[in-house]
Amino acid sequence: MVYRIVFVCLGNICRSPSAENIMNLQLRQRGLAHRVKCDSAGTSGYHVGSPPDSRMNAAAKRKLKIELEGRSRKFQAFDFDEFDLILAMDRDNYRQIAALDPTGGKHASKVRLMCEFCTKHSLKEVPDPYYGSEDGFNFVIELLEDACNGLIDHLLKTEAIAGA
Ligand code: 4NP
Repeated sequence: MVYRIVFVCLGNICRSPSAENIMNLQLRQRGLAHRVKCDSAGTSGYHVGSPPDSRMNAAAKRKLKIELEGRSRKFQAFDFDEFDLILAMDRDNYRQIAALDPTGGKHASKVRLMCEFCTKHSLKEVPDPYYGSEDGFNFVIELLEDACNGLIDHLLKTEAIAGA
């Protein structure tokens, strides 16, 4: 069984595509790419069809030597059935996602905040870098590396990909 995760932010051009690509990188590095399928989406439709933000891509290239892949899409109600885990980058994303739950809350346990999985950082949300400086984009990469690493450890400890 493949475990399915979708990462969600506002525009799906900065934080969530970074989370998706960093998670895929770490899964490959840990030999687990075949056990987890990752995707990303935005709560807004502002950038539907666009590739990741060039400043975000530059930060990923600088820090991780990877190109961010993917095109922006909007998170939809049917995504609740498509994924086992829905990871919101901030509390606002979390609220927007929860409001789309067609069952009125039955899927609530699938929706979590990305920073719950950080082990080095204590921030509760991944800050929106869109209107900020290069440092903000670099920090998003650093924070998401921590969260993805903790997320994989968590998945290995729970039934999600136990025995992998
Ligand atoms: P993201 O960043 O949610 O991390 O993709 C943003 C992208 C676009 C906008 C805001 C945040 N925007 O306002 O267009």
